[in-house]
Amino acid sequence: MSVPSIIVNFKAFRESMHEGAFEIARAAERVSRETGISIGVAPNYIDAYYIAKNFDIPVLLQHVDPVDFGAYTGQIPVESLVLYGFKGSLVNHSERKLRIDEIRRIVSKMNELGLISVVCSSDNMESVALSVLKPSAVAVEPPELIGTGISVSKAKPEVVREAVDPIKRMGNVRVLCGAGITTADDVRKALELGVDGVLLATAVTKSSNPEGKLMELAGAFKF
Ligand code: G3P
Repeated sequence: MSVPSIIVNFKAFRESMHEGAFEIARAAERVSRETGISIGVAPNYIDAYYIAKNFDIPVLLQHVDPVDFGAYTGQIPVESLVLYGFKGSLVNHSERKLRIDEIRRIVSKMNELGLISVVCSSDNMESVALSVLKPSAVAVEPPELIGTGISVSKAKPEVVREAVDPIKRMGNVRVLCGAGITTADDVRKALELGVDGVLLATAVTKSSNPEGKLMELAGAFKF
């Protein structure tokens, strides 16, 4: 399975848990069906299995742990994703950082299992360093813009632009960007910088009309 063009991270917002999560999942399913643009979702753990079972969209976890099955209280073994039909996971999100050895272990296991690993990075240096691990994608997300509504593609285009070529030189590693992406124009600008897709949260999870917002964002891939 390839890396979705749009990934919506539900985080732990009240609006995107339980019924809210199902509404966004339904919206993502409809919009990807209608537009042909692949939309993946990263719901909170508690909602993830219900969504994977009931909606025809790729479900990624927000985090996974560098452990095998065993006595690890409160941890998610990489292999367990396969049991539940999850397609992959975000890894090293700036709100859930990991050490480099942990990321290496997770990515290598995910590659072995054919799971999508979307490894998040905060800047150019980290992006390039992480792409060496050959994840499915590196998502460039300057933490200071996360949740601000100020898009990385407009406010810090150089961070994205300078990461794209070195990451793509690694071979089969896709590039996403995220932080503050809110409008179709933000997505268009990101695509102009050379990314393959976007990772976002607030614009969809806090929208009063998630389906309309996703339709707007998906529209940016059509031109
Ligand atoms: O994982 C996506 C996220 O960190 C970006 O958040 O709210 O700026 O779209 P947001």
